[in-house]
This record gives sequence, structure tokens and C-alpha cells, in this order.
Amino acid sequence: MNLPLSEALKKHSRQTHDSVDMLVLSMEPFASIENYSKFLQAQNAFHEVLKPIYENPSLNLKIKGLNSLSRLEQVAMDMQDLHVKTMLVDEAIPSPSEFESIGWLYCSEGSNLGAAILYKEAQKIELTSNHGAKHLSAHKDGRMVHWRKFKEQLDGLELTLTQRQQALKGAEDAFAFFKRVIRQVNYAEETV
Ligand code: HEM
Repeated sequence: MNLPLSEALKKHSRQTHDSVDMLVLSMEPFASIENYSKFLQAQNAFHEVLKPIYENPSLNLKIKGLNSLSRLEQVAMDMQDLHVKTMLVDEAIPSPSEFESIGWLYCSEGSNLGAAILYKEAQKIELTSNHGAKHLSAHKDGRMVHWRKFKEQLDGLELTLTQRQQALKGAEDAFAFFKRVIRQVNYAEETV
């Protein structure tokens, strides 16, 4: 029997998640405001791709409240707080199909769980939800409650086998894109 979609996504992307986790930590995003600024540039590039996905009308009919979940604005506010400039992404900007987009959303919403750890680290360099780390704040319902509700919505989607495969591919693509932008912000540092 098929796993619920959220579990299939988790199983499919576990290894990739761990490699992203290690890559992010290796850039020591909370060692200084300078390092954190690079992390923000990567988050900005990631959430730019996600913005039209969160606003997609067809997906909004399937997933309640989707268009209120984009965190691009919060990332922009964090960048403004710290006077961080947008990084120009030096590669093709992904444009996922509707069903691949579901995997991108899984990746983005799930990243808010790990953000609990990142938010604690951010506080050590005086960043808070009021200054510089708004995009790492919890959803107003609480991280876990929101995540459970979001997963229920994913699991309630009626997908064909092909659409489900596309969602799994979308999650993989989203993690891969995040990795590429993290590498790019670090590379930019070396070339300055
Ligand atoms: C240093 C960086 C990161 C750390 C330490 C971290 C840590 C974690 C932890 C501890 C969880 C599990 C939380 C729980 O079940 O209570 C989690 C879940 C998750 N994280 Fe991360 N994470 C990091 C970065 C990211 C990034 C950059 C992304 C996406 C671009 C991401 C996507 C996800 C997803 C999708 C889940 C949900 C997994 C599931 O289906 O249960 N994480 N992360």
C-alpha cells in the first residue's frame, strides 16, 4: 500500500535533508552577522522561487490558506534590518510544474521545523523575530501544530501515481536548488 504523501516525501528526501543540514551548518551561519547575511541571501533566492507556488490559484483551491504562507516578505524584512543586498542567482531559476510544486511546498514548510534550532542559534547573535530573524519564527499556530495540519492537507490530495512521482521529484529539486544557492553565496565570498 502507498505511504501517505507526507511520509513518502520524508522517506524520499531524508538523506538529502541531512546533506543540506550539514552544508548549512558548515557555513557557520550564526558565527557572525556577515555569515548570517549570506544565509539570508540564499533564503531569499529560495523563497523567490516559492512565492508564485504559494500564490498558484489551482494549488490554493487544493491547499487551504496556502497564499498566506510565503515567507519571502519576512526574509525581505530580515534583509532590510541587516542591510543585506539581494544576491543575483547565477543559474536558471526553477519553474516547477504544479505537481512538482507540491514537493517544493513540502520542503519549504518542513524547513520551518529545523528553523526552531536555527532561531535559537540566531538569538545568540542578538537576532530575533523583531530584528533580522523574522523568517525563522514559528507559525502563529505553533510549528508542530501548523506542520501537522499542513501534512494532513498534503495527505488529502488525490494524486495519480505520476503526479505523486512529480511531487517527490519536486522535493528533491527544491533541496538541490537550496544547496546550489548556499554554495553560491559562499563562493561569492571567496571571489570578493
Ligand atoms: C542547519 C540546517 C537545518 C537543521 C539543523 C534542520 C533540522 C531539522 C530537524 C531537527 C527537523 C525535524 C523536526 C521534527 O521532526 O521535530 C527537520 C525537518 C525538516 N527540515 Fe530541516 N533542518 C535544516 C535545514 C533545512 C533546510 C535548509 C530545509 C529545506 C530547504 C529543510 C527541510 C526540512 C523538512 C522538509 C523537514 C520535515 C521532515 C519531515 O517530513 O518530517 N531543513 N529539520
